[in-house]
Amino acid sequence: MAGGVGSRFWPFSRNNYPKQFHDVLGIGESMIQTTVKRFATICPRENIYIVTNREYKELVQQHFPDLNDEQILQEPIGRNTAPCIAYACYKIAQKNPEANILVAPADHVILREQAFLECVQQALEVACQEDILVTIGIKPTRPDTGYGYIQYDSDSATPSKKVKTFAEKPSLETAQRFLQSGDFVWNAGIFIWNVNSILKAFRTHLKDVADLFEKGSTSFYTPEEESFIDSAYTHCRNVSIDYGIMEKAENVHVILGDLGWSDVGTWNSLYSIADKTPEGNVVDGEIMLYDTQNCIIKTPQNKLVVIQGLQDYIVAEHNNVLMICQRKNEQQVKDFVSHAKESK
Ligand code: GDD
Ligand code: MG
Repeated sequence: MAGGVGSRFWPFSRNNYPKQFHDVLGIGESMIQTTVKRFATICPRENIYIVTNREYKELVQQHFPDLNDEQILQEPIGRNTAPCIAYACYKIAQKNPEANILVAPADHVILREQAFLECVQQALEVACQEDILVTIGIKPTRPDTGYGYIQYDSDSATPSKKVKTFAEKPSLETAQRFLQSGDFVWNAGIFIWNVNSILKAFRTHLKDVADLFEKGSTSFYTPEEESFIDSAYTHCRNVSIDYGIMEKAENVHVILGDLGWSDVGTWNSLYSIADKTPEGNVVDGEIMLYDTQNCIIKTPQNKLVVIQGLQDYIVAEHNNVLMICQRKNEQQVKDFVSHAKESK
């Protein structure tokens, strides 16, 4: 899934060049390249599909000159993750009606690759035998309201545990309660299922979306695909897989992983995984710091930045936008983006 805009990571992530195409960690490759490399170790490269907005097709091609056109599924408009997953799963079903599918965001960081691949292996083993929807659970560290929270059957001795509650993006109060109870994990947003299980779940919980994609699915891999998809997306509502299916389905399982995972959705999530100076600063750029602690500062290489006396701030400059924001108020970044658009 590579169609999101990553607006909470502004001004770095922009409409015309979203986060997944950036080298956020400074490791010499974009997030989407790292993601494809990771999955190419368990899935033949020709079986990897990238679902993205039509606007980003050239960007995807630049990042993956070896992928053929058929592997880039282009959406005319973003309708969130449920239609994105429906499109890909119906299309994959056309080619292999028994496929096991792993759905992953293009823009997540996973530091412990081996542990992650073991988790995926366990998930695939159960998902290919049972009619279940498997997700990966991460131990939460803060009452983040941007995540899904999962309560599971802790008596279960098997790695894959039956989910009791799936609560997408709770209020801060509820997230705090979930965190204190010690009973919940975060949904990593990485899903494993057999194609028949997910299509059944679409028909049960998101029938309107299933109907749209099922209707013309024989046009996949033909020249009619584009016009069929245009019409399906025009009629499709905006809904995430989490609200649309995961919260409602009763056959959800979770596998817990200690993966060094971060969705790098916000500046603070990048801060939490990045290397820090002894003063607790994360710095990327030509930066001189005095009496400055616990800041994250990412500025262009060709600009000397001098900061004195700053604590707990985000300082980020990209493409002629400079943002200075208290780390504790990072959820406001989304508002800055829309206000900046309005003021143009
Ligand atoms: N192709 C496509 N089309 N991709 C999309 C679209 C779309 O319309 N919308 C989002 N995506 C991609 C994003 O680029 C991202 O990689 C992924 O799908 C997840 O979407 P987000 O918008 O980032 O979801 P979220 O962060 O709010 O919530 C999800 O992820 C959390 C973990 O990071 C949920 O699954 C939460 O439950 C989960 O905790
Ligand atoms: Mg996200």
